[in-house]
Parts: sequence; structure tokens; C-alpha cells
Amino acid sequence: MNRLSLAFALSWLLLLSASAQTRPVDAPVNIFVRAGQPGVTIQPTMWGIFFEDINMAADGGLYAELVKNRSFEFNMPLMGWKEMKAKPADGSVLVINRAAENPANPRFIRVSHYSEGNYGLSNEGFRGMGIKKDEQYHFSVWDRANGGSRALRIELITPEGQKIGSAHLALGAGSMVSGAEASGWRKDTVTFTATATEPRAKLYIWIEGQGTVDLDMVSLFPRHTWKERPGGLRADLVQLLADMHPGFIRFPGGCVVEGRELATRYQWKKTVGKVEDRQLIVNRWNTEFAWRPTPDYFQSFGLGFFEYFQLAEDIGASPLPIINCGMACQFNTAEVAPLDDLQPYIQDALDLIEFANGPVSTRWGGLRAAMGHPAPFNLKMMGVGNEQWGPQYIERYTLFSAAIKKQYPAIRLVNSVGPNPDGDLFDFLNDTLRKLHADILDEHYYRSPEWFLQHAARYDSYDRKGPKIFAGEYAAQSAQVATPDNKNNWKCALSEAAYMTGLERNADVVQMASYAPLFAHVDGWQWTPDLIWFDNLRSYGTPDYYVQKLFATNKGSYTVPLGQPLTGQNGLYGSACIDQPAHELILKLVNTTAQPQGPVIHIEGVKKTAVTARVTVLKAATPDKMNSLEDPMAVSPVSGELSCKGRVLTPTLAPYSFSVIRIRLE
Ligand code: AHR
Repeated sequence: MNRLSLAFALSWLLLLSASAQTRPVDAPVNIFVRAGQPGVTIQPTMWGIFFEDINMAADGGLYAELVKNRSFEFNMPLMGWKEMKAKPADGSVLVINRAAENPANPRFIRVSHYSEGNYGLSNEGFRGMGIKKDEQYHFSVWDRANGGSRALRIELITPEGQKIGSAHLALGAGSMVSGAEASGWRKDTVTFTATATEPRAKLYIWIEGQGTVDLDMVSLFPRHTWKERPGGLRADLVQLLADMHPGFIRFPGGCVVEGRELATRYQWKKTVGKVEDRQLIVNRWNTEFAWRPTPDYFQSFGLGFFEYFQLAEDIGASPLPIINCGMACQFNTAEVAPLDDLQPYIQDALDLIEFANGPVSTRWGGLRAAMGHPAPFNLKMMGVGNEQWGPQYIERYTLFSAAIKKQYPAIRLVNSVGPNPDGDLFDFLNDTLRKLHADILDEHYYRSPEWFLQHAARYDSYDRKGPKIFAGEYAAQSAQVATPDNKNNWKCALSEAAYMTGLERNADVVQMASYAPLFAHVDGWQWTPDLIWFDNLRSYGTPDYYVQKLFATNKGSYTVPLGQPLTGQNGLYGSACIDQPAHELILKLVNTTAQPQGPVIHIEGVKKTAVTARVTVLKAATPDKMNSLEDPMAVSPVSGELSCKGRVLTPTLAPYSFSVIRIRLE
């Protein structure tokens, strides 16, 4: 064991000796499972996903577009692009702004090639472009003849200068861009195959022949996307989500909902319809942290609200959109819209429900149909505001709630109780919203692993008749919240597993929970820890991911009690539930100690069980263990069997382990 691991182990043991009850670790614990005594129903939504466009989760991540700043709308219109020419006389590029004619997509470039020499532009992608050997790539561009040049040469180039794909594209043969007929734009496309794999390729676009051509919406997508949808999502990343079988997806955040100022808040209407009409804005994480500036971080909204609803449907998750409530991020400008001016914000919420559920004869239901989904998306809940606090939130929430409930009484609303799970801000909102009979309170906790262990019984004493709880954002922080030093190590994940047994035990109160944030690009992140990390070609789930996945794929229909709740005795945490369709008892047991433990599990209240149980174990030799792109499965589930004699199970729980035991009840 190295010194770091030893330090981790010691700190863990110290913590346990403080929190565990008096029984010595080596004396076996008897666990009585009252399998015949139904506890509380576990909602299908229980374990879900929190998606926010942070850490390049959307552009450069889930949205498979490879060209950065494809429409020249970044603050610096040529950010991500470079001219390629031997002599100044070879050519030029002019950025033209036609805002009056096209406010959502104002800029395009006018490229002129004057000489016999080569002239073109390169695009660097999102920290490069991930290209795979033998995969097909679709290149497309809007172009308009302006005298002369009518063809492009497209190349994919490695950092070493090797060509790994190329195509010739004659311009002007493609379809007229709809809505832009008068201005003569055409969309031309070409598909070609890459000859090598490269995580950091660049795209070169050479102008063939002399003359001038206008270009806009320059795009490169892999043919292979999730469900092979053109212009779609990165398949490996969606697969990791689908494998979790999440009960819901919260979207689009997070602070992104709020914006640093109201002008850059998330406005869903600007994220639907044709991609070229979705107005790009700066991402609020672009400038948030001095230690991780990301000047090229913008939101193209290629992954917008339609794609979100479609993704949720694809992977069987309930949609949970969060809507701006007239408040910008209170950690930043804290701007609010005056109460008298709140109607457009409220209308956005109402219209979003119509977009998701309304008949195709309605304006927004009609747009959903025109985008390819006439059937409703079956939206049942909506969050009002993200991490808001103070009386200004209550004033605004009250107006939103009245309007939404009047028109859509069946929609359940999720309300903020602020950024912390305790303290003045929390107490004020918690008390006030309970008095207002709010539906669901959205609690956030970014806390130490020790906090998670100490609060595994948090909900045991919550009011059973009050609002339901959504643990909407949580993650154990190995260092401190919002520092770049946090690690997705096993110590953090194990503490989350221990804590989640408390959520499951209280499933009558806690009806939804999601780890946050979800995604991080290894070269483009701002916030750590995160559930899933990726580069331009690869991705992996952290130990936290496997904890989430094990809970979600072993959800159960209702809880059954243990003789005594297992909330840290001997460093053990646990919960039990029944999977009704499968007739199986599911036990989740977390051993947070450095020693193996052999609890004796007595299954009571049933006549007979199968003689063999299935056991899935997540463990690591030391609590500092992490997964990585190079070793993605270092901490990952391993399955085995356990015999059951006379309704008694005697598993050996490995040190620092999380075990899921499933046994059929006869
Ligand atoms: O998950 C990262 C951020 O943490 C979210 O955007 C915000 O809601 C919280 O403060």
C-alpha cells in the first residue's frame, strides 16, 4: 500500500470509529430482512440522470458535430478557424453580418481565392476531431455563388500532417436552403471514409479554382451516431446513459438554466426548429472559473429540447425539464425579472408543456410534429428555477405555480430549496415551500464523503405527508466543492452508495435522485467530479457511475424493512427491496471498513427462497482507486453466486465494497 493509500485508509478508519456504533468490526452483524412486510413503493423515476451543458457535455461531447463555430457566431467570428495560405495575395476571408435579415444566424464568411497558390481554412474541432478508421463522415456546407470558385477540397489531417480522409465537393448542386431561397444559399454535402483513427484531427477546406464564394453552416458529422440519426448524438455516450436505465433525465441543468445574466439564460424556444435558426449564445461556464477558462465554450443548441425529449424517450426515462423562473444565477449577477414582466417567462413554461404534450393542431405541438414526433412526449413534471433562493424566488415560484397548475393541473412541479442541504437559505425555502404545499423539493448536496456517511439517515425523520424530495444534484467531493482537485475515487463513490441506501429506505419521501454533473471532456472540463469522462474517441464510467448503475438496474418495486435500519453499524450500510415482477429480494450492502465483514442475513416472512443468490460486487483494494480512459474498468461490477441455506445468507463483504444480492423468493 503506498503512502497515499495508507493515508486514505487511516482517515476512513478514523471516521468510522467516530460514527460506528460500539460493536467491534470483527463480530458478525445479524441482519433480519422482513421480506414479507412491504414497506414503501419505489417510484419508477427513483434513480435518474442530471444533464447540464458543463465540461463540454453538449457541443464537443454528446452532440456529435465535429466542427467548432460552424456558423461563425462565436464572439470572435473566426475562433477555431485558421486561414491557410502561402502568400497574403493567395486569398482572403471577410466576415459578413446580415443581422437585420437573419437575427438568429447573422454571420457568414465570404472567401476569395485570387491566385494559383493554395488557399483555404482549417477548423480545429473541439480539442481536435475524433476520427475513426473506416468510418464514414458527412461534410455539409451552405454556399452561395459569388463569382468564380465552385468547388471545395475537404481533408482530414492528423497533428503530424498526414491526410486521413478527403473528398471533392462541387458547389451549387445541392438543395436550396429553405427559407433562404431569395438569397440563393444551397446546402451541398459529400460523404467520405476515413483511412486512420485519430483523436485530434483537423478539417481542411481548400477553395478550388479562383473567385469568391460565401460559406455558412460548415458541418462534419460521423455517419454513425446514436440510432444512426443524421446530425445526431455520440453513440458511445448515449449507450453509457442507456445502460443505466435511468428513471428520468433532468435537463438542461444546472446553472445553465439561469445564465450568468438573464440575457444568457436558457430559452428553450431558441433550441428547437431548424438547427440553423437556433441562436448560439455563450456558455456560462466559459468564464466561471479562473483556473479553467474555456474561451471557446458556446452553446449551438444542436442538442436542443426536441433532441432532449427524444433521448429521454429512447432510453425509457421520464423527462424533467427545468425552466428559468425570471432569475439569473445568484452566484453571479443575481438579476431578476420584475414581477410585472414575468409573463413571457411563464408563457415559456406553458408553451414547453404544449411542445411536449400538446395536440399537433396547437402551435407548439405542431412544431414537435414538424420536427418528426407527432406523438406526445408524455411530460409529467417540470422544475421551476434551478438553484434559487430567497423571498424573490418564492414570489416568482408562486406566480409560475398558479399559472401552470391552472392550465395543467396534472403537471407536478419541482422547486428549489437552494444550493445547500442545510443553513438559513435552505431553512427559509424548506419551511415556506412546505407551507405552500409544494409538490417536490429539489435538494442539492456537494459535500465530503464523510458527510454522506453521516447523513445516511437524513430522510428517516422527514415528514411523510409533506412535499416529496428530489435529490436533484449530489456528489461526494474528495477535496472541496468547486475546486479542480476533486477526484472520482472509490472513497467518494462508496460513500454515495452508503447514502443511497438511505434514499431507497425512504422512497416514500425521496422519489427521485441524480448525481451531478454528468459528463466531462478530459481536455475541456470546468467542474470535477463528474459521472462520465470522455475524450474525442473514448469514454468511461467512474466508480460513481457504477454505483448509480447498480442502484438503477436493481431498483425494485417496494422496500422491505431490515430489523433495524443499517446506517453505519460496524461501518455497514444497507437496504432491501422486492422486485415484484421477478419475485426477487434485492439486498444492497455497503462495507465502508478496511476489513472483510461476514454479516448473517436472515430472510424472514417468506416460506422459501432459491438456494442460490446472485451477487454483484463493486470494490477496490484502496479507497483512492479511480477509473480512467486507459483503465476504464478498474472499479467495475463483478458477478458471482452465493448459496442460501434455510433462508440464511452469509456473504463475505470485501473491504471497501458495495454488494447487490438478488435472490428469488419461492
Ligand atoms: O453541477 C454543477 C453546478 O452545481 C450546477 O450547475 C449548479 O446547479 C450547482 O451549483
